[in-house]
Amino acid sequence: LLESAAPVAGAAVSAAVEAQGAPLLVLYGTQTGNAEAVANDAAAKARTLGLAPEVLGLDDVDMARFTGAERVLIVCSTYGEGEMPDNAHLFWKALSAETAPRLEHMSFSVLALGDTGYDGFCQAGKLIDTRLEQLGAKRVAARVDCDVDYETPAASWIDEAVPALPQGAGVAAAAPAPAPAAALAARAAWSRRNPYPAALSVNRRLSSPASAKDIRHLEFALGDSGLTYEAGDALGVVPANDPALVTALLTRLGLKPDAPVPGHDRPLGELLGAAFEIRTPSRDLVAAVEARAGDEALTHVLRHGDKEALDAFLWGKDVLDLLAINPSVGFDAEGFAALLRPLQHRAYSISSSPLVYPDSVHLTVAAVRWRSEHRDHGGVCSTFLADRVDADGRVGVFVSPNKAFRPPADPNAPMVMIGPGTGVAPFRAFLQQRQATGARGRNWLFFGDQHRAHDFSYEDELGAMSRDGVLTRLDLAFSRDQAEKIYVQTRMRENGPDLFAWLEDGASVYVCGDASRMAKDVDDALHDVIRVHGARSPEAAADYVDDLRKAKRYLRDVY
Ligand code: 2AM
Repeated sequence: LLESAAPVAGAAVSAAVEAQGAPLLVLYGTQTGNAEAVANDAAAKARTLGLAPEVLGLDDVDMARFTGAERVLIVCSTYGEGEMPDNAHLFWKALSAETAPRLEHMSFSVLALGDTGYDGFCQAGKLIDTRLEQLGAKRVAARVDCDVDYETPAASWIDEAVPALPQGAGVAAAAPAPAPAAALAARAAWSRRNPYPAALSVNRRLSSPASAKDIRHLEFALGDSGLTYEAGDALGVVPANDPALVTALLTRLGLKPDAPVPGHDRPLGELLGAAFEIRTPSRDLVAAVEARAGDEALTHVLRHGDKEALDAFLWGKDVLDLLAINPSVGFDAEGFAALLRPLQHRAYSISSSPLVYPDSVHLTVAAVRWRSEHRDHGGVCSTFLADRVDADGRVGVFVSPNKAFRPPADPNAPMVMIGPGTGVAPFRAFLQQRQATGARGRNWLFFGDQHRAHDFSYEDELGAMSRDGVLTRLDLAFSRDQAEKIYVQTRMRENGPDLFAWLEDGASVYVCGDASRMAKDVDDALHDVIRVHGARSPEAAADYVDDLRKAKRYLRDVY
């Protein structure tokens, strides 16, 4: 999850077209909700100018309506390394097709959300913006590309783009409404900027000590926070860096923890502990080290290599490892701070249902640990949660809604869940939800990990759910219990006839977990099952999957 979203309270915008005013389509492409929240703010502003906005997901807009529209605002986030968010695939397929119609009558502006820490920064928004121009649409305000701190640039884009749209005839002066900045601030009290200090009440190891992994079951008490959540939402967690790493960095640079840093209200040691990312080196830091280090390998990959060569060079290296390339490279406190990115919260899929656990939120987190350059390394937030929550036991959290990722609205609809490793998290929540509501739909879980004996997370609970009948089928793929690899997609293919029958019966398919390989391989397996057992051509199988997406029956929460 790359985005974080503050819950929208009281600012909900009706999808219905409002009666008076020139029509405006405000479309959002989102993975977890930020873009939708900004789209709602843009619509609120448009209403103050007498326009009649309609807010829709990019895949929910009828293409004929879109191509006929005269006013369009698009807010689109980018997912992974430059990919379209899941709810924009169909839209992009239609817009990028050679047969897409001319759009000379359309006035538009695009707001792109992204993260400079990834490749393909704001790529999805950039592609849409460029393509609309190519098709002859008129850009009324320049695209704005937002980094993770998107609130301020998003508010300025709204202030710029909305009044620049042609206002149409019969514009009525509307009642004054809050300015976008105020609307952004009016959201629920607990947010990314104002996280709730939740007590970490349970921190239990799920994997056995013999496992290669350290997977934790964590519970956060919601106390009197008033925080609410739904199965499918994510929890944003505000981490702190490892103090041992902070000390090692200060020692390496010969700087004191109490060194003042101009432009900041805290000394260097505190900033490194809680305000800056010190695990993954920023691009600026890599460039600055390269310029000073005289290191042939780094210079080569940075100046002549491609992105893969640079990734390979940086693989597993944190900021301290990068500085170790040349011990004589140094920075002063101000110069060093200027080369670091802000420490971001991490978002984890919630693994409990509020119907069963109204007073707590559960997470299922793999504590990431690795060794390189002769040092032990840890993932920032996962090891913070597993090892370093301080004596008061409090952790800053907020709920990041994922409104698209929910169990089927129809309690009788079947549900297929594919969640190896910690990808099982939201499905534990979905199953609890279905059990608590007495939903009658059949439930099929594909789960896997390395070894059955060490890595079978929630074995007891899943067993009990199988006995109770809420978990209709459980197919397991333990990859390293035999010579050849068995993965969840192996089990999908083996059970292809049944899987296809479930799809034909109206099943929704959910995927959670690793985006880089698993989600792609599972997608291939889904296409193959439909092709083989539905007796379809590859193209017809792809159309079948597109129809599943359109019907919101193929939903993914992958990272
Ligand atoms: P492996 O580590 O033995 O390769 C959870 O991490 C499980 O996902 C592990 O069993 C892991 O197997 C497996 N896994 C690794 N790559 C995968 C892929 N491309 N598709 C599906 N599962 C994968």
